[in-house]
Amino acid sequence: MTKRPLPWREAWDLALYADDGFFRTSRPAEHFRTSAHLGGFAAAVAELIARTRARTVVDLGAGGGELLTALLPLVGADVRLIGVEVADRPETLPSSISWLPSLPDRIEGLLIANEWLDNIPCDVVEMAQDGRVRHVLVDPDTGAETFGGECDSEWLRTWWPLSEPGERAEIGATRDAAWADAVARVDGTAVAIDYGHRRADRPPFGTLRSYAAGREVDVVPDGSRDVTAHVAVDAVAHAAGATLHRQRDVLAGLGVDAGRPPLDLARTDPSAYLRRLAAAGEAGELLASGGLGDFWWLVTGPLGRGTLSP
Ligand SMILES: C[S@@+](CC[C@H](N)C(=O)[O-])C[C@H]1O[C@@H](n2cnc3c(N)ncnc32)[C@H](O)[C@@H]1O
Repeated sequence: MTKRPLPWREAWDLALYADDGFFRTSRPAEHFRTSAHLGGFAAAVAELIARTRARTVVDLGAGGGELLTALLPLVGADVRLIGVEVADRPETLPSSISWLPSLPDRIEGLLIANEWLDNIPCDVVEMAQDGRVRHVLVDPDTGAETFGGECDSEWLRTWWPLSEPGERAEIGATRDAAWADAVARVDGTAVAIDYGHRRADRPPFGTLRSYAAGREVDVVPDGSRDVTAHVAVDAVAHAAGATLHRQRDVLAGLGVDAGRPPLDLARTDPSAYLRRLAAAGEAGELLASGGLGDFWWLVTGPLGRGTLSP
């Protein structure tokens, strides 16, 4: 029997990735919407593929293969599309898309990971009333928390120092190591896309959250719901040698345009007008301040050197 309560990192890992874990038993799209589910996103990634002349595209944490499926008609037949995902290959995935359980040793081309880092489990810590930083333990069935042992973390001192009792942090060292490892395999461009914070704007109480069936729910690592936390993007970027950009800037540079179609089109070609209106709505969602537009792109490779942001 599993010892309870567990350190958050262990409980989180089991909740998402054990045999009966959340991502092994359900697809992300059944529970929440990501950029990869919106039309204009694949077109922007196709533009990125064209600009980088990538011949292989690896989608890490590919979910239900939505991005790769949308890319298929947009890229040439000479571009290899590979999904890396702990969940099984979706039954309806086009046969030309490859599906792997783990990253290949070498990737020549483009590596993209949308909303992957936020699902990498972290240790969670809190400053107790006596001023000591303690590990937070959690009961996987109820989400009830207790304090564990004292935490001595160089990562915390460097990236997310706590100063007041009650303040909490998610220790992002696991994410730094995971993305640095992924990037080290790439000859080409690597992009991680996620919600996050930098040292100047860390949330004082952390950002541990759960989502299920389209809404935010109590944070409980019981396998029935997502467990996620925003990414300390400056720490990951430092570990992987990446540059940081806002999604709204990158996507605008890659041609995503939320402008409404001309009203005249509604008279001359109503169905084209409606199609373009819907596309403009999705583009607006991808670029929105306070929403997906605020997401961070961590870019490594030629496109990271100042050519992505306007
Ligand atoms: C939030 S979902 C994002 C899915 C998709 N990229 C999207 O944007 O819609 C995170 C996905 O990463 C997968 N994942 C997490 N860790 C993984 C790993 N080490 N290898 C492969 N897939 C992983 C999960 O199973 C889950 O499907």
